[in-house]
Amino acid sequence: MTLIDVHLTPDYTSRALREDARAGLTADPKWLAPKWFYDARGSELFEQITRLPEYYPTRAEREILQARAAEIAQLTGAHTLVELGSGSSEKTRLLLDGLRDHGTLNTFVPLDVSETALREAAAAINADYPQLTVHGVVGDFTAHLDKLPGEAPRVVAFLGGTIGNLLPTERETFYTSVRDVLEPGEWLLVGTDLVKNPATLVAAYDDSAGVTGEFNRNVLRVLNRQLGADFDVDSFTHVAVWDPENEWIEMHLRADRAMKVLIPEIRLEVDFAEGEEMSTEISAKFHRYGVEAELGKAGFTPAAWWTDTEERYALSLWQAI
Ligand code: AVJ
Repeated sequence: MTLIDVHLTPDYTSRALREDARAGLTADPKWLAPKWFYDARGSELFEQITRLPEYYPTRAEREILQARAAEIAQLTGAHTLVELGSGSSEKTRLLLDGLRDHGTLNTFVPLDVSETALREAAAAINADYPQLTVHGVVGDFTAHLDKLPGEAPRVVAFLGGTIGNLLPTERETFYTSVRDVLEPGEWLLVGTDLVKNPATLVAAYDDSAGVTGEFNRNVLRVLNRQLGADFDVDSFTHVAVWDPENEWIEMHLRADRAMKVLIPEIRLEVDFAEGEEMSTEISAKFHRYGVEAELGKAGFTPAAWWTDTEERYALSLWQAI
């Protein structure tokens, strides 16, 4: 059985894009939020990134899930799996298999902002797991965590290292809001990329085939299409830098020449100076102590911390107090 709850108004995404574009492009320094990378082409480019030799996080997380799915099922006895920003269905399936084989799981709740992507994912999972109720939620995980369906105990999974795209204050708000919707004893499963040698980190975000550069520039194509903007996409250069103070990778787009960009749908005109850099993504990397401090503060107690064999990436399990 498949059910879909829609918590977003039809114009939510276009309004949010307009607000973000105005806020970010009138700020100094300019910024655009990473969530706007993911139109159909951006999602396909991200899938390509996950297969690049330099981009290890996806493979590392898959290795951990393969090794630990049965243990996650054993520890949690989950009746419901909630997946926030339901990304790679392949990794979701590793979890679903482990939980199903343990015999307690009855409901899968994928949550995503894209209704199309969500309906496709829900139908695909329903076809392969006919015994599960798939109860999809169209929503934004930073705003619509209330009313998560499913019988307790639930495991809320936030995979892929997407937590690293949030600023520290946003992470705090996110963890607290997850804690607030859970009953004591329910679970949060988080994937976090770990701090390591900067050369390895920079290579993961500046691959030699240039796929990440195309992914980064794609946000300009999204603005061109959705807001009628006239960014000359090829006049922006992809930049990935390691910020050692904040311990995050920051992706920028650098204007190769001075440009004036028109964004008619929000009645905005933006000037770029030659060499000006606009921030498009932060991807924070973590230490175990930092993750423990943040989740402890939000009201979770640690249940497990697992890494891949090369200790590049961690998957951790937390229980709501
Ligand atoms: C899927 C958001 C976790 O930050 O590593 C990949 C996105 N950006 N390469 C990440 C991304 C550049 C990715 N997340």
